[in-house]
Amino acid sequence: MAQFSRAGLITKPTPLERLNRLSDHLGIDLWVKRDDLAGVSFGGNKTRQLDYYFGAALAEGADTILITGAVQSNFTRLAAANAARFGMRAIVQLESRVDAPSDLYLNSGNVLLSRILGAEVMHFPVGEDENGADKALYQRAEAIKAEGGKPYVIPLGKIENPIGALGYVDAAKEIMAEDQGFDFIVTGSGSGMTHTGLIAGFAPYAPHVIGSCVRREKSLQIPRITALLAAYQDMTGEDLGLSDTDIDIWDGALAPGYGKMGPVAEAAMTLMAQYEGLIIDPVYTAKSFAAVPEMVESGQIPQGARVCYIHTGGLGAFFAYQDQLSQLGA
Ligand SMILES: Cc1ncc(COP(=O)(O)O)c(C=O)c1O
Repeated sequence: MAQFSRAGLITKPTPLERLNRLSDHLGIDLWVKRDDLAGVSFGGNKTRQLDYYFGAALAEGADTILITGAVQSNFTRLAAANAARFGMRAIVQLESRVDAPSDLYLNSGNVLLSRILGAEVMHFPVGEDENGADKALYQRAEAIKAEGGKPYVIPLGKIENPIGALGYVDAAKEIMAEDQGFDFIVTGSGSGMTHTGLIAGFAPYAPHVIGSCVRREKSLQIPRITALLAAYQDMTGEDLGLSDTDIDIWDGALAPGYGKMGPVAEAAMTLMAQYEGLIIDPVYTAKSFAAVPEMVESGQIPQGARVCYIHTGGLGAFFAYQDQLSQLGA
């Protein structure tokens, strides 16, 4: 790990807290890793990933960060926030991933925050063309170079060098340092960097990592995580000694698709809010947390198990979805 620079974006460790009422309710010993508190500007898992991307960018002397995400991306908002801290320029490319977006979706939440944080916004018209989006961003980077700038691109599709995953190897170490004897770690699985880092970080230890799909279904996410783990091992020179059972993916809350709430995610959001006073977001954390009650119900997480749920944040987008959430609650 020493060969990879970090920018120091987070005060570590983030809190690890027991969820007492939900533990009683579900019959398990449930804890939450509060990565929603990781770093500035509403925090989240992406801060840990950006710690390494900014580390590399600063080491190269970059003055401009370029990044792609969905319109309501937390990654782009956090890149904008951390670029501001280093006096860097941030160019965020927003992809159209959600059909028939509302005005709120297009202008509030992370879009509003990114604007306030000083980011320059560009748009990419397709939501499922990672290589096309990267090409457009590299072209913009070339134009910045021609003007005398020093761009650093955080790629979307390129997985050969998954340095973002290193942030979650760090998180695994923080969790192990608290020695709570967890049986299961539950996290969201989208780009797969968080999930990959946790599998790598926990590989020598007992906890079994479960990834809950937030972006694409299990049949597509398994090869993605498999490829990321291979790339991670090439990048670090480590042999993690993994088998197929180490890639455990659940997609029971993904429907009706990326960026849209279904009944399973809605139930998870109100459960967390009304038992623990913790807010989880409609796109990522409601879907990832849903794995916990659903897998307890199905017996895949047995009664009495010690479970650590990773709260990966997402709160910057919350009010951009208020029209989808207005039916929830008492
Ligand atoms: C709040 C939140 N949680 C989870 C994820 C999924 O993490 P990853 O992209 O590392 O798979 C994301 C991705 O954007 C996110 O913003």
